[in-house]
Amino acid sequence: MTVALTGFMGCGKSSVASCLASLMECPFFDLDDIVRVGEGASVSEIFRNRGEQEFRRLEYEYLERFFALHGGEDSDSVLALGGGTIINPECATLIKENTLCVYLKASVDELVKNLEIAGTSGRPLLAGASDLHGAVSSLLEKRSPIYESCADAVVGTGGLSSMEVARRIYDFVKTGLK
Ligand code: S3P
Repeated sequence: MTVALTGFMGCGKSSVASCLASLMECPFFDLDDIVRVGEGASVSEIFRNRGEQEFRRLEYEYLERFFALHGGEDSDSVLALGGGTIINPECATLIKENTLCVYLKASVDELVKNLEIAGTSGRPLLAGASDLHGAVSSLLEKRSPIYESCADAVVGTGGLSSMEVARRIYDFVKTGLK
């Protein structure tokens, strides 16, 4: 089974994926990294030179390939999605069909705090925003119903370390609800 982590930029998908993979004793992957390595270009370069729509198409293409390789019931993996992957209905369908999907739910304040620490330069949708709080807040408002409706489980990240979030997901995974 693949456990896919979704949620807004800065919610900690990649760090939690790494912790969860160590608990599940399985490999973890990051869709942004898969696209970056596959295309030989950073996410920012792809947005700048080829546009967001092309990036969304690439996310779908690499996701499809990922499930062809890792989609079997007997091979476990953890996949950190990009914050916008699930917004594409075609990707959402693939994710629903092939994963147990967990939404890492974080507040706007928490997201802004994490993004301020990590920086937004590698995140073209937020890079250069003069009002980061406003930008996060309005995009999250549009996206959160989609995150909620696509997820098999929702885990609040507030005040928890990546490992604590991973443990909660691990407990859910162990119950074998899917
Ligand atoms: C995006 C999130 C990013 C990356 C791209 C677009 C989004 O991934 O895929 O910049 O639309 O939310 P992270 O959520 O890992 O930052």
